[in-house]
Amino acid sequence: MQNQLFNIKNALYFEEIDSTNRIARELAQQGAPEGTVVHASRQTAGRGRLGRAFHSPQGGLYLSVILRPTVRADELLALTACIAVAVHRALRDLGIKASIKWVNDLFLGGRKICGILCEGQFSGEMPDFIIAGIGLNLRPDPALPEALRPIVTDLATETGQCIAAEDCAQHILTHMQSLLRNLADRSFMAEYREFSATLGHDVQIRQGDRSCIAHAIGYTDDAALIVRHPDGTEEILQSGTATSL
Ligand code: BTN
Repeated sequence: MQNQLFNIKNALYFEEIDSTNRIARELAQQGAPEGTVVHASRQTAGRGRLGRAFHSPQGGLYLSVILRPTVRADELLALTACIAVAVHRALRDLGIKASIKWVNDLFLGGRKICGILCEGQFSGEMPDFIIAGIGLNLRPDPALPEALRPIVTDLATETGQCIAAEDCAQHILTHMQSLLRNLADRSFMAEYREFSATLGHDVQIRQGDRSCIAHAIGYTDDAALIVRHPDGTEEILQSGTATSL
């Protein structure tokens, strides 16, 4: 991606919005340039992967960035992993050592602190645009639904630090800018592997109606997960979820 990424003069901030990804998509369709950033403090209809909702209370960082990469779709396979590494580096700048769960989550203390959702619009081989959405839990949510308590946490609870959303956003955008320039060479995959919360674990795999247990043994350079089944066969997973047991 060699465009003039992240002219942050094009930044929009909302106290509350339904979804920063939705607004960013609308702006992209109207021609907003690469690097346009939509930031909110709260989302009322945050979107997650696989059509799920993303719980987005006050006190989080909800960020979407418009990308206009001039590359073919297959070169974008590892985009989410690349952004996960950017968020990982941003947290490391702030003294926080998170891990990366395949494919799009960051974990701290065994629970999720961040999710990433990349959504694109394609009319040919190249994308018209991609929206890279990042949701990071900064502070505890007193109204966190009971069902999410065992699986979701936030930076303040885990580290005792109250990090300003703007600081965090700045670090993330800086690392995205430098990592996306070299998306094609996949050099970020070394960090994606090193800080993985998935590799080396037995995982519960879910792909649509399919569910099975396997051992996570590696990633391809496109960030597909390589697993070994109990019968010794290996499989490369391009999609789905893999939850460590
Ligand atoms: C996931 O965990 O499944 C991905 C969650 C991605 C959430 C972010 S928050 C900012 C942006 N706007 C959205 O509606 N979703 C993404």
